[in-house]
Amino acid sequence: MHKSLNQIKSIVIIGSGNVATNLGLTLFNKGYLIKQVWSRSLVNADTLAKKLNCNATNDLKEITNADLYIATIKDDILHLVLDKLEVNNIVHTSGSLGLEVFNKKQKNSGVFYPLQTFNKKINITFSNIPILIEANNELFEKKIQAVGNQISRSVIPMKSTQRKKLHLAAVFACNFTNHMFAIANNILTRSNIDFQLLLPLINQTVLKIKNKDPEEVQTGPAIRNDKKMIKNHIKSIHDKKIKELYRLISDSIMKNNE
Ligand SMILES: NC(=O)c1ccc[n+]([C@@H]2O[C@H](COP(=O)([O-])OP(=O)(O)OC[C@H]3O[C@@H](n4cnc5c(N)ncnc54)[C@H](OP(=O)(O)O)[C@@H]3O)[C@@H](O)[C@H]2O)c1
Repeated sequence: MHKSLNQIKSIVIIGSGNVATNLGLTLFNKGYLIKQVWSRSLVNADTLAKKLNCNATNDLKEITNADLYIATIKDDILHLVLDKLEVNNIVHTSGSLGLEVFNKKQKNSGVFYPLQTFNKKINITFSNIPILIEANNELFEKKIQAVGNQISRSVIPMKSTQRKKLHLAAVFACNFTNHMFAIANNILTRSNIDFQLLLPLINQTVLKIKNKDPEEVQTGPAIRNDKKMIKNHIKSIHDKKIKELYRLISDSIMKNNE
């Protein structure tokens, strides 16, 4: 790690979930000193702390001194945890929350949002992951930018209003798409067909949008306005909500093409 005056060297991780695990391990492997992991459950804090060679706590009063605190907590309760924390130099990792979630006790606050889907059981390389950063002052933004630069080639300053739109788009592009894979898997499992058969199709769907606008390369019954096939598909679906979902998405594809 390149060293200079006032740079961030030591880190406390608040949380022990998907982002905490992946980001914590990446920073640890880059040479940052991870001093502590806090989590609501001591067992979870301890599991991650062992990997990061540091101590674990579930008591916010026991939080140790560090150059940076990274809060990777479920979005809807983050403010409750932050309210009980009296530390400077803190970032959260949420795409959808702004700087307003911090309180005045936290002098230097910011956002360090890695735009990727994380699971604590799957290790992931950070070098290609865009990290969107924001801070309540220029100096702190520079400091967190420097941390980002150590682990990723793409660290981008972005204000909350824009980042929230990016997060919304990511929910459609990643979370909803994954739910579509889950529905496809369910349909195939019922008919005893291996989901892996779909992988070349899924890979090509992603590959073709590298250079083309997604709308331009849409295929399937809805874009062809094949009402007979759509009707047959809906008829063959068992679950009422999935029938409705098929209808809604087909309508949306058709409307986009009007
Ligand atoms: N997952 C992603 O793909 C992803 C990507 C980019 C950004 N993010 C953002 O990163 C943050 C963390 O996400 P994540 O997926 O890592 O979350 P997560 O795996 O669900 O875990 C987050 C942490 O929240 C804690 N927690 C849950 N309920 C709590 C409560 N009532 N009180 C105190 N702590 C509680 C958990 O503690 P215990 O386990 O100890 O109970 C855990 O340490 C979120 O802001 C999320 O939006 C997530």
